[in-house]
Amino acid sequence: MPKHPEELRSHRWLGTAGLRSFGHRSRLLQIGYDRADFAGKPVVGIVNTWSDANPCHVHLRTRADEVKRGVWQAGGFPLELPAMSLSENMMKPTTMLYRNFLAMETEELIRSQPIDGVVLLGGCDKTIPALLMGAISAGVPAIVVPAGPMLRGNWRGDVLGSGSDTWKYWDEKRAGNITEEDWHEIEGGIARSFGTCMTMGTAATMMSLVEALGFMLSGASSIPAADSAHARMATASGRRIVEMIWADLTPDRIISKESLDNAIVAHAGLGGSTNAVIHLVAIARRAGIPLTIDRFDEIARDVAVIADIRPSGRFLMEDFFYAGGMRAFLGRIAPHLNLACRTVTGKMLGDDIAGAQVWNDEVIRPLDRPVSPVGGIVVLRGNIAPGGAVMKASAADPRFLQHRGPVLAFESYDELAAAVDRDDLDVTPDHVLVLKNAGPQGGPGMPEWGMLPIPLKLVKAGVRDMVRISDARMSGTSYGACILHVAPEAYVGGPFAFVQTGDVIEVDVAARRLQLDIPDDELARRRAAWIPREPRASRGYGAIFAQHVGQADEGCDFDVLGPGAPLLEPEIH
Ligand code: FES
Repeated sequence: MPKHPEELRSHRWLGTAGLRSFGHRSRLLQIGYDRADFAGKPVVGIVNTWSDANPCHVHLRTRADEVKRGVWQAGGFPLELPAMSLSENMMKPTTMLYRNFLAMETEELIRSQPIDGVVLLGGCDKTIPALLMGAISAGVPAIVVPAGPMLRGNWRGDVLGSGSDTWKYWDEKRAGNITEEDWHEIEGGIARSFGTCMTMGTAATMMSLVEALGFMLSGASSIPAADSAHARMATASGRRIVEMIWADLTPDRIISKESLDNAIVAHAGLGGSTNAVIHLVAIARRAGIPLTIDRFDEIARDVAVIADIRPSGRFLMEDFFYAGGMRAFLGRIAPHLNLACRTVTGKMLGDDIAGAQVWNDEVIRPLDRPVSPVGGIVVLRGNIAPGGAVMKASAADPRFLQHRGPVLAFESYDELAAAVDRDDLDVTPDHVLVLKNAGPQGGPGMPEWGMLPIPLKLVKAGVRDMVRISDARMSGTSYGACILHVAPEAYVGGPFAFVQTGDVIEVDVAARRLQLDIPDDELARRRAAWIPREPRASRGYGAIFAQHVGQADEGCDFDVLGPGAPLLEPEIH
């Protein structure tokens, strides 16, 4: 049964006869609206992460207008709500420090105002998980409008991919293989339009996964930001949220253990970013659905990487769109999906992707001709990572999947940066580089430092990959034999803190093992000698973050933002 107008949440603000409602209505009239614009209509909040400081989102100001058009068409009343924009590119020390901030802001924007449902505008890495986490906690109907990937990069006729080619050509520059002029030309060609990174980085991964999870119109996640279909998708999403509000299609009717599994299947098949492990665990936690990082490993063992997209493959998101996009991809991995999961369309996932076709088998490979026979993510455990660590095995040189080598350990990124270009650094290609104190508390905010730079003397000798271990994250556009998210982190006294230069570490991906080769009593001795650290910040948001953030294997959410009572409705007096 559709809702009656008096059952709308906004009715308490706008529909009653009291003094406060008079005030709310008179202030809408102040803007120039007429009573006919909002009376008895669902109020749609458009949570917009547009910002001049976020190049990936510069078109979202226009997209918000296109969403509004759809809301008006369907008989709703749109209100745009600006929210903090997390620009992966600009924000320091890391946007991950602020993901929970945006999630809280989203939840409270909804809670405190007459909002019946929301359209969430985001895309750049942390924005979509943050917006969705907040909307799930708020519990009102929500649909995501993804920013969409930018166009392919170009340099002298070669296709450039965000991030991946930056790291690649930076090493070529360090090795003296390209000139300063070449480097400047690359700078001008690697980001040719608005939109998110167009490799299968964290943004493309999270946009795709949230579609698989059911929170976007079918096919929305892969439309390039600069394609006119993107604007039409925004308008269609505006129309749809109004229908969702009348149907009371709240997030708890979409997200489930099965739909989360679908997102993890998609992650495996796409060769998605390691960051998605943290974000999906956090999203599941908001919904009160148990999900551990091990589920990624379990599913990845059975699902091949079939999206031939950088950094695991050859192509970019624009090619993925022309090949049929996310609908075609989901159609191809359908044997692994639970098709009876409801989506924002009100239908089942199987209905949404019915009839989808792949137009280019090189970009979206057949299941029997994959990029990699198993999904990208493995979870390793051992005496230095009892809570687990993750590795994108599909993006590593295969000879490092089983490796034993001497440790070269750094206590901080500054220490690493000061050493890495030294000609006298005692390092060989077999060394295991270790960076500590770069986790949620140590970074703080768990920066994307996990693709540790290869020492210059090795780069000059032609080395392009080696085993690197940290409690940091890494950009989804990065690659290499990087073991990340070691939990618990060094800064809080996890056993990773006790790794020292000269130790030996063994990595055995097949056995899912990450082991420091020292006796237990030596590990205990080092633990006893360890001196606890002060929180990184003692005031403001940094102090709140330090008090409440969880470890990587728990999704790095705040302990006070877990599942609990439904939306606490404010009093209107
Ligand atoms: Fe925004 Fe990569 S910098 S998605």
